Amino acid sequence: MTSRNLPEADDAALAGTVNLADIETLGRSRLDRNALEYISSGANDEVTLHANREAFRRARLRPRVLVDVSDVSTRTTVLGVDLDLPVGIAPSAFHGLAHPSAELGTAGAAHAEGSLFALSTFSNTSIEDVARVVPGRFWFQLYVYRDREVSAALVRRAEAAGARALVVTVDAPYVGRREPNERHRFGLPPHLGVPNAASREALAALESSSGSQLVNYFQGLVDRRFTWRDVAWLRELTTLPIVLKGVLTAEDALLAVEHGCHVWVSNHGGRQLDTAVSALEALPEVADAVAGRAEVYLDGGVTRGTDVVKAVALGARCVFLGRAAQWGLAAAGEAGVRRTLALLRDELTLALALCGHPDVTRLPRDLVRL
Ligand SMILES: Cc1cc2nc3c(=O)[nH]c(=O)nc-3n(C[C@H](O)[C@H](O)[C@H](O)COP(=O)(O)O)c2cc1C
Repeated sequence: MTSRNLPEADDAALAGTVNLADIETLGRSRLDRNALEYISSGANDEVTLHANREAFRRARLRPRVLVDVSDVSTRTTVLGVDLDLPVGIAPSAFHGLAHPSAELGTAGAAHAEGSLFALSTFSNTSIEDVARVVPGRFWFQLYVYRDREVSAALVRRAEAAGARALVVTVDAPYVGRREPNERHRFGLPPHLGVPNAASREALAALESSSGSQLVNYFQGLVDRRFTWRDVAWLRELTTLPIVLKGVLTAEDALLAVEHGCHVWVSNHGGRQLDTAVSALEALPEVADAVAGRAEVYLDGGVTRGTDVVKAVALGARCVFLGRAAQWGLAAAGEAGVRRTLALLRDELTLALALCGHPDVTRLPRDLVRL
């Protein structure tokens, strides 16, 4: 269970935050060990988890001067959806661990701030309930199940509810070993349901008694035989744009484009293959391979406005927040996620002005030195 303070205390503490690190500190302080370890951990030695942040820190900006920056725009469009800033919320499981409002809090904040919400298959809120909060402005993330009919039914539900894209996560045929979750046997508190993924098999896995509950849950559900050939099956199943999430190489980016998909550069926030390349380092080769034929996105380690500038300049149309959104939610529910997005937008606006590039959709690649 999360430990909660009074709402007024939430407001005061939130008002004192000046950056995402402050919100993370606040969010962490509101969580018990089970939730905290689930959200924060990466796979094994967490090399990739830290590399994501380090790559942003290492990359340097080459600002231009004596440019009129009296008017700065952070607006963009992503697969036809207008955004106030090129920052969305990445799909992550079980928002109910962070706050009782769960995905309704995160989605509501994304909507209010002109951002984009991506809903995980493993949410604590149903697709339909989320859709009511973000009408026509959300993506649905799919883990392809061994039972193709279950997957097809989920895709149909997402389409009917108004999802604007299908995000297929391709870096998780097995769950990475997040050792704190194994050590302390991560478990979903009994009051939290998994309404999109409920099946007899899934419920049986949740009752399993050893190791991380998530691993047991996944083991029974996700299709490890899913390959490029099966992407064609998905392509025929839906008219929604398909985004493949978890691409880190030019080779796979090319295949994604050949299969009519958009490309989301991600190492799952360092939670899957440890020592995999950082997201920012992988971005240029992916953007080169895609060569404008599809949209490219990135997540992993984004916590500053300058991070957004760097990723967009190197070819991402939009970036997504994983843990940063969870810390906001844990800190103060919807208001916490709104503050996270608002602070990031302010930082981005200032960074664009100081870079001498006032329009976020027109950033040159040579703005960044990797
Ligand atoms: C607690 C947590 C749960 C996650 N659950 C999912 C999920 O259900 N589906 C998915 O595609 N990615 C999932 N991810 C990965 C995120 O979508 C994203 O790739 C990652 O968090 C980005 O890195 P960041 O946390 O450094 O921003 C999860 C990440 C976290 C931290």
